[in-house]
Amino acid sequence: MTLQLDPRRIAMLQEMGLRLLPRVASVDAEPEAVVAEAVESVQAVAPVQARAPVAPAVPVRVRGDRPAGVESLDWADLEAAAAGCRACGLCESRRNTVFGVGPQRADWMVIGEAPGENEDQQGEPFVGQAGKLLDNMLRAAGLDRRRNVYIANVLKCRPPGNRNPEPQEVAQCEPFLRRQVALVQPRVILAMGRFAVQAILQSQEPVGRLRGRVHRYEGVPVVVTYHPAYLLRNLQDKAKAWSDLCLAMDLMDGVQPAAST
Ligand code: URA
Repeated sequence: MTLQLDPRRIAMLQEMGLRLLPRVASVDAEPEAVVAEAVESVQAVAPVQARAPVAPAVPVRVRGDRPAGVESLDWADLEAAAAGCRACGLCESRRNTVFGVGPQRADWMVIGEAPGENEDQQGEPFVGQAGKLLDNMLRAAGLDRRRNVYIANVLKCRPPGNRNPEPQEVAQCEPFLRRQVALVQPRVILAMGRFAVQAILQSQEPVGRLRGRVHRYEGVPVVVTYHPAYLLRNLQDKAKAWSDLCLAMDLMDGVQPAAST
């Protein structure tokens, strides 16, 4: 993919806390010369309003231990079913289910891993430090969780102590995510981090090997990128995340990617 630094993309870099190195100037630069340097700046974002937890109005029907019938639920029933779900042990320790945030129809969808402590408390995905970085990245692409991007996690309940999701938890929860994708009808999905990728692409390959090309989930183009929490610890990879966002924006702009799977 050719990275061109038009004014919109220069603004993106700045929003993501990426600084242009002096040899990078403009769209005239050679693609190879396009480099960006990570700087440590998670910019302040407007506080995200907590949402009232949804009452489990619709008891989830369980076939074996997996929610059934999820694939035909509407938004209200789907959210209620998630809130009432007891298909895995995470329901025992959750304070809130963290269903998702954003418009019910959106061209963009972000898929993360699982709620952490802040998310469990507030009932909304990505409200901690990683969420601030995510919001900056999204803003850089002209996106806003209240307006034009839907954000959901693979798991709707917090794994205790923020441990990694277990395969059977992912398997139980994935039908909720699949239904969310069907309802949102995104034109592109940004899969952030190892667990999002494993869940939707059924791949054990590391994120670094899956980035840079277009995958598919339920027929929707998927761009793989690093998880914002990882980026907070590995600032040097922010430039790669920026290039992943560019790939997703190119898709949205109808630009044909170099290679697809
Ligand atoms: N990390 C995630 O993957 N999701 C969240 O909601 C918060 C942190």
